[in-house]
Amino acid sequence: MRRIQLTTAGESHGPAIVSILAGMPAGLPLGPDDVARELVRRQGGHGRGGRMMIEDDVGEIFAGVRLGQTIGGPIAIRIPNRDFRNWTEAMAVEAPRTEDEELLRRVHLPRPGHADLVGMIKYGRDDARDILERASARETAARVAAGAIAKRLLEEFGVRVESHVVRIGPVAADPPRRLPDDIESTADASPVRCLDESAADRMVEAIDEARRAGDSLGGVFEVVARGLPVGLGSHVSGDSRLGGRIAGALMSIHAMKGVEIGMGFEAAATLGSGVHDEIERDPSRARTGGYRRRRNNAGGLEGGITTGEPVVARVAMKPLSSLRRPLDSVDTRTGEPAKAIRERSDVCAVPAAAIVGEAMLALVLADAWIEKFGGDSLEEMRANFDAYLARLAPPETESPEG
Ligand SMILES: Cc1cc2nc3c(=O)[nH]c(=O)nc-3n(C[C@H](O)[C@H](O)[C@H](O)COP(=O)(O)O)c2cc1C
Repeated sequence: MRRIQLTTAGESHGPAIVSILAGMPAGLPLGPDDVARELVRRQGGHGRGGRMMIEDDVGEIFAGVRLGQTIGGPIAIRIPNRDFRNWTEAMAVEAPRTEDEELLRRVHLPRPGHADLVGMIKYGRDDARDILERASARETAARVAAGAIAKRLLEEFGVRVESHVVRIGPVAADPPRRLPDDIESTADASPVRCLDESAADRMVEAIDEARRAGDSLGGVFEVVARGLPVGLGSHVSGDSRLGGRIAGALMSIHAMKGVEIGMGFEAAATLGSGVHDEIERDPSRARTGGYRRRRNNAGGLEGGITTGEPVVARVAMKPLSSLRRPLDSVDTRTGEPAKAIRERSDVCAVPAAAIVGEAMLALVLADAWIEKFGGDSLEEMRANFDAYLARLAPPETESPEG
């Protein structure tokens, strides 16, 4: 990100996860409920493990917000790990206070597909716990907390970032051609955050079957941002192109293996005439500069710049690597073949990952928004945005949905 900086800290079973978001304007209305709401959404979804029963995530905002508004300084949020009470010896800051191996919970049996082995080698650690505690996707709670603030900023300007699940393992959804106006509440009402009810039932069955087999499942989620104006991002250099910034942010989420924007990989197999979105004049739409597209195969981006049509990205998540029936590995103490460790784990976390995807997309869009509309305060930013819209079309022609 170019204008905002996100730093997270904390281990999965340490006392807390911390999120520090710098670069947000002053005057943005923000309260603990805005953050808590998103954290609760990340905890849900059929297929999650026992850890989510223990945690009851709340985000304690302790810097950067005063009397219900941001004040321009870095915003710091602490998310306590309730499970820490069961890990006080293993996660102590001090040198070991016990020799009891069971309490220290050292790990010498790296899981294929996790960061365990490569992290041990890279950082010169002989205990994979030093790696997996930080590699754990518990860190994504901090991203979701920061993403909640980015979403608040975008909401002020009528932009919504939402998501839904389109595949779990072998079960593909057939989502409605026209997405509902409120994707969020429709998806949140489904146990797998899927808009196709019959596929959702089969997804739940597939997850239950994988659980019974001691296995895990991945899938695909779609993130959608609506209400954006034309003109975020830029064609002028590789690092300003929004497609790369979005794909990079989504790929930075744990266990993601692919990102498609708009028509994505299918476009590579289709003639140009079947791909590109024909242009029409539509003076009623100020946010798209008075133009409309007959379809949105571009996923809302041309030349690394938003077109004003929805930004749509699909993200592929691999199956989780902690398996109740572990795969072959090596005991790093002895070099002998052994089964990988069995860490407590989710069976499928695609519905939760979709919420993390919303957070990452919101952060990138908020970053691009601040880049384009600048200003130290929300008020200044609003004035810049209004002036931009006035340049695109007379203000009275803007339709409520943009
Ligand atoms: C929301 C979410 C929850 C996850 N839960 C687990 C889990 O319970 N068990 C597991 O092995 N991996 C889980 N992962 C994936 C691992 O964190 C990830 O595979 C690991 O950090 C290695 O990184 P890589 O997969 O990107 O190579 C989860 C990922 C996300 C996004």
